[in-house]
Amino acid sequence: MNHVILNINVLDLGISPVAWQLSGLPKTAVTTGDYFAEIGRIAERGTLDAFFLADNPAIREDPLVRPGGRALEPTAILATVAAATSRIGLIGTLSTTFNDPVELAARFLSLDQLSGGRAAWNAVTTYNPAAGGNFGLAANPDRASRYRRADEFVDVVLALWRAAIDGREIGHHGEFFDVRGRLPLDGSTQGHPLIVQAGGSPQGRDLAGRTANAVFTAEWTLPAGLEHYEQVKQVAVRHGRPRGDVAILPGLITVIGSTEAEAAERYRTARELQGIEQELGILGTQLARDLRGYPVDEPFPQEVLADLDDPNAFTASLGFRESLVRAIRDRLADRPGYTLRDTVLEFGAGGHRRIIGTPEQVADTIEEWFRAGAADGFNLMPDAFPSGLEIFVDEVVPILRRRGLFRHEYAETTLRERYGVGPAQARTAA
Ligand SMILES: Cc1cc2nc3c(=O)[nH]c(=O)nc-3n(C[C@H](O)[C@H](O)[C@H](O)COP(=O)(O)O)c2cc1C
Repeated sequence: MNHVILNINVLDLGISPVAWQLSGLPKTAVTTGDYFAEIGRIAERGTLDAFFLADNPAIREDPLVRPGGRALEPTAILATVAAATSRIGLIGTLSTTFNDPVELAARFLSLDQLSGGRAAWNAVTTYNPAAGGNFGLAANPDRASRYRRADEFVDVVLALWRAAIDGREIGHHGEFFDVRGRLPLDGSTQGHPLIVQAGGSPQGRDLAGRTANAVFTAEWTLPAGLEHYEQVKQVAVRHGRPRGDVAILPGLITVIGSTEAEAAERYRTARELQGIEQELGILGTQLARDLRGYPVDEPFPQEVLADLDDPNAFTASLGFRESLVRAIRDRLADRPGYTLRDTVLEFGAGGHRRIIGTPEQVADTIEEWFRAGAADGFNLMPDAFPSGLEIFVDEVVPILRRRGLFRHEYAETTLRERYGVGPAQARTAA
């Protein structure tokens, strides 16, 4: 790929915990089709690769983590965006722990048909501890069993999609699923939807390298990004896949101003609204430690970075935790006296690398990671919609185009062609 891949991750009204106060829109905008359709149209104006949605299968009643936490079901939103746009890709996250593969395969292949071959499914195993309760479980299953199910789930979905192309029936008998038959659907313009994966544990990397066309990752530093990039590509190669068949897309939080002062002011406004307590809650959840009792102006409590007693029992994302621990350790090594407050200011809220700066500086970061081989592109997370996306489209995209890093117009219609991954295979054993 000689072009950077840029998806827009549409998280509520923005990734900032106070996005609803920054956006100028009512909180209820996220329950309207008009809101998502408009975001889709702005992203398409900027020739972005795809519109991306997270999965939230249960409410999280911790107001310190994300107040409200309500979200419409992703494929319903994507069908709305499909109707309002004609080129942009449509990526929806749905859990392998709390869905059925036949139903999910039908839903995404339907979306793929409706959108003319623009759909992709982002497979996750779910970290929200409340999700299990919604589905009759006392807690979320541990990571190892979630990923065993995820491996089989993805295989069944792919087998059903491939069978839709050649019209045969599948016969699958596994640990979690028994499926005999086929979907009442044919293949789509792009054959079938792409697979995306998010989850950075060793099991997550294996699943991605084996099956995914793109991976959404959380990487804070360039060295860590380079390492993770290579790990996933190596897994793909071990499975006989070309390196280019799996794109690595770290998350990038953007706070953009036309000048450095404007960007800093935009960030300062958000910080004044959100307060440190909420950010301590979010950072603590990602580290699997409660940070709220610690004095914020004392040196950072190193003990919270210690290895987990049982990583398998930690249901949140290891990928998020490991990249954060590594980045904070790096910082503590070169900044003695670095406090908990400093840590929250630098790493709080969002779980992803954040850039606060001018369009030029944002473009520099994207170019640096892309050219270094740490990213094939990014999942962009503006602080607040729609302004954070508009400034990206109007001011960052033209810079990337001038540098030869981004398309001037869409050359292709399907997401498969755009991501440059091979054609859909018609047949594999289930
Ligand atoms: C970048 C990234 C994004 C993720 N997005 C979601 C999501 O939208 N919904 C969700 O339930 N889980 C999400 N997950 C976590 C997955 O549920 C993941 O399968 C599980 O927590 C295990 O993650 P791990 O492999 O990093 O340990 C995400 C994980 C990462 C690293």
